[in-house]
Amino acid sequence: MTTSTRAALIGAAFAAAEHAYAPYSQFRVGAALGFADGSTVSGANVENASYGLSLCAETAAVAAAMNGGARGGLAAIAVVGGRTGPDGEMQPGEAPVMPCGRCRQVLSELALLGGTDPVVWCVSAEEVLEVRLSELLPHAFGPGQLG
Ligand code: THU
Repeated sequence: MTTSTRAALIGAAFAAAEHAYAPYSQFRVGAALGFADGSTVSGANVENASYGLSLCAETAAVAAAMNGGARGGLAAIAVVGGRTGPDGEMQPGEAPVMPCGRCRQVLSELALLGGTDPVVWCVSAEEVLEVRLSELLPHAFGPGQLG
């Protein structure tokens, strides 16, 4: 995975975060999925007045990708998030944004379909934390367990 690929995917995640609907938490998240064929699909969090129904950015991105026909080939994931700064743009905080547990499982389903272990870039104001999806969700539940 090249440095320019990483920068492009993080840029796509930032662009997605601009479309976040987060009037309740004020925390805007963007996620971008990079595929082996060079395509990118992104998503942002979509909150709801019934708070527990809110959708995370990573889950929105996976749904968009699979609705577009993706069934594997997931090579990389970028996640960014933060509150709106004085300039009206999302400002990353001091801690990298880590995919929540549910999103790890949702991402894992798409990764398992293609037999990949995507690199995950979790972005903060100071750094980009790089991990593998299998590190975030070891011993994942998958279709293989359904028999
Ligand atoms: N959120 C995400 O979009 N992805 C995550 O992995 C963690 C949390 C969203 C949900 C909610 O809209 C906001 O961040 C604050 O929790």
